[in-house]
Amino acid sequence: MSDVKMDILRTSDEVAKCVEALRKAGRTVALVPTMGALHAGHLSLVEAARKRGDAVIVSLFVNPVQFNDPTDLARYPRTEDADFKLLEEAGAHAVFAPSVEEIYPDGIDSARMSHTFDLGQVAEVMEGRLRPGHFQGVALIVSKLFRMVCPDRGYFGEKDFQQIAVIRRMAQTEGIDVEIVSCPICRAEDGLALSSRNSLLTPDQRNVAPEIHRALADSVEYSFDHSVGSTHDFVVERLDSRPFLRVEYFEIVDGRSLLPVRDWSESDFIVGCVTVYCGEVRLIDNIIYRKP
Ligand code: PAJ
Repeated sequence: MSDVKMDILRTSDEVAKCVEALRKAGRTVALVPTMGALHAGHLSLVEAARKRGDAVIVSLFVNPVQFNDPTDLARYPRTEDADFKLLEEAGAHAVFAPSVEEIYPDGIDSARMSHTFDLGQVAEVMEGRLRPGHFQGVALIVSKLFRMVCPDRGYFGEKDFQQIAVIRRMAQTEGIDVEIVSCPICRAEDGLALSSRNSLLTPDQRNVAPEIHRALADSVEYSFDHSVGSTHDFVVERLDSRPFLRVEYFEIVDGRSLLPVRDWSESDFIVGCVTVYCGEVRLIDNIIYRKP
């Protein structure tokens, strides 16, 4: 248990006071945005920020504006009390857990229409193509949080590889001065990337789900003597052959532009990004093929 008692903040005024006190005490401030239902992946971001010496503010807000599927929003797991406990144990300085009205006082539809972010092509491919409006919603909440907290650093997980690229772009085009820190994917022992959505899997689905990471990991070795196209098919065929699993997309892309590569020689940074339905649960994961 940390010796610092964690503050629970519900309004932007409370956030402003908390940040002011931290600044007066000479602290640097980190923001870790989350939608709650916390697991070790989220806590690894808190730990990374603490290691750097930042006072950590974690936001916990299931952002309705980024959900394009109402069923997905309705069944998103909510475990606020357990989350507070985990964050206090992890040594977060404060948690900001606002109501929807606090963040979007004029309602969700009006918030959606309030501003269109220039997110460029990184928001148009993959998740952007399949989840219309999703990244606009992510940009909206993260920009609001950045403006409320004014953190020195924002910490994000590489599990959402495309999201990091979109947030970097948003901060740049909106002129928000914040360092974006990306942190490695935390996995269960069997390789499944930790996700709040894993709790929605049935036991049988949970048993099959680690195949996603296994197929990706095996495909790295396969890629050394096969083409991009064959490596793509290797992953898709293997996953689609398993019960419950259905690949929505698997793309092998340049790690910066997120545009598809056709040949391994095209880039020094190549990542494979996959979205797989396991039953009704949409899981995402990625693997690095070539790193600069
Ligand atoms: P959420 O899915 O709750 O994730 C919050 C942060 O935790 C994100 O940066 C995500 O990439 C990171 N994360 C999730 N699983 C992880 C894992 N297994 N290992 C490492 N990091 C992991 O992403 C969102 O919320 C939202 O879109 C948000 C940015 C909060 C905006 O609403």
